Amino acid sequence: MKKQIILGVLYVLLFTSCSGDESIVLINVDGASNEVTVNPSTQINLKEKAKFKIGAAVKVADLQGDVNYSNAVRTHYSQITAEYEMKMANIWSSSTSYNWTSSDYLVNYAKNNNMEVHGHTLIWYNSFPDWFKNAKYDSIVFESKVKIYITDVVGRYKGKIKSWDVVNEVFADGGALREEGIIKTVFKDPIGFYGRCFQYARAADPDAKLFYNDYSVVLDSGKRAAMKNMVKKFKAKGYPIDGLGDQFHYGNDTNKQTIISGFLDLASTGLLLHISELDIKVNVNKSDSYVFTDAETQKQAATYKYIVEMYEALPVNQKFAITTWGVTDKYTWLTGWWHPKEYPLLLDNNYNKKPAYQGFLNGLK
Ligand code: XIL
Repeated sequence: MKKQIILGVLYVLLFTSCSGDESIVLINVDGASNEVTVNPSTQINLKEKAKFKIGAAVKVADLQGDVNYSNAVRTHYSQITAEYEMKMANIWSSSTSYNWTSSDYLVNYAKNNNMEVHGHTLIWYNSFPDWFKNAKYDSIVFESKVKIYITDVVGRYKGKIKSWDVVNEVFADGGALREEGIIKTVFKDPIGFYGRCFQYARAADPDAKLFYNDYSVVLDSGKRAAMKNMVKKFKAKGYPIDGLGDQFHYGNDTNKQTIISGFLDLASTGLLLHISELDIKVNVNKSDSYVFTDAETQKQAATYKYIVEMYEALPVNQKFAITTWGVTDKYTWLTGWWHPKEYPLLLDNNYNKKPAYQGFLNGLK
């Protein structure tokens, strides 16, 4: 049996079925050769196949405002993360008040749809509220206030938010402690402060898995060494840490071997690993004339596939989740922040599965 379906202007999909198996061959309508091998079950969704959580960064406005978005989240994902609504600047509205509206909404949404929540993020240099920064607290008052914040936030969602990025992006490129933000000016020993933040989170919810999260970890050996060193210090001091996240905002041109060897090095910590903000840029040169060609979509699919295969090769007790930073190309944060012509995610603007989705799916065991 053969069917032909035209998807947009780019592809003709030939579905073939022989001896019960199905395969899809993607053929560029201009005749260029191009092939994707597809799993026998073309209908299966990521969350159904994966043995670990498949997460998505989401925004309340999109969940409420676009029913297709919400349906896509429910169909493909088993975990959500707030793209920004659980950051400190959003929750800690003043010295005497919290704004729980969005975080409560997301936690209830996850519960109603049988998904888990990964909390992002308790401490991030980029998200201290202005009122807090302007107060110019000394280290003692600073830490006592942060301790109350962590206790209140983690405590409010005890048992409901199963994991937290306790601290995000402490290290600059190369591994030195980041200069931006206020922590380096307030604390003589920032790492000690971060370690105590993990303790405060553990005390507020002993069952929540606690992560340190950063970007370019598998590419930047200096940053990775600094992270491993921090983990060692935490262990020596008894500060609790369960896992490490590498954001994985990478490009289609990133060297595969570098990613894989960096990831293996990270795995040597024995901690849970989280691919925490995965998106794969295709317009790596930020070109206004960029065209997302068939060849580029295939390359992106192959990139997703090897990243997922690499993750699957971890010991089972180190697998936690792979989270994509967004749901559809339509709302990716990279459009605007990176370039208006960007297509980094698994679903296209119309919520159709891209070859990238199939690449991810094929990478799963
Ligand atoms: C980004 C969000 O995607 C944006 O919507 C927000 O305005 C800025 O932050 N590393 C992180 C994430 O840890 O929190 C960032 O998220 C992307 C980079």
